[in-house]
Amino acid sequence: MVSDKELLEKAKQVSNNAYCPYSKFAVGACVLYKNGNIYTGCNIENSSYGLSLCAERNAISTAIAQGETSDILKIAIYSPNTVKCFPCGACRQWIQEFSNCNNVEIILEDENHECCSFFINDLLPYSFKLL
Ligand code: THU
Repeated sequence: MVSDKELLEKAKQVSNNAYCPYSKFAVGACVLYKNGNIYTGCNIENSSYGLSLCAERNAISTAIAQGETSDILKIAIYSPNTVKCFPCGACRQWIQEFSNCNNVEIILEDENHECCSFFINDLLPYSFKLL
């Protein structure tokens, strides 16, 4: 099984591909599914600012487009611009959508360049679900 450090390293790698000329805030995300599959994504901005796409939603969209139907187990998020790059509210909701009620682990890099982790149910308690 892939380690948290490896997931964070992949998030770091893909953050180099971020298209963020407006905010200059690069983000990379690496999502691990229960079946072991891994997908990455970076943020992609637009001159119409509101159309910008977050790294986490890019990674999850890539997974879906590849036909992924498993549940998200973990997601590593990295930005060279901050420590502990927490997911925004919209991305928290997206992560919950594909968690299948599993408490997804969010892996971030702390100030000592170590992995630290949080749980989606703590970051987005009482989340909205139709099912
Ligand atoms: N961003 C992400 O990629 N993920 C988040 O969870 C928060 C914000 C991006 C969006 C935008 O391109 C830049 O960071 C600054 O907000």
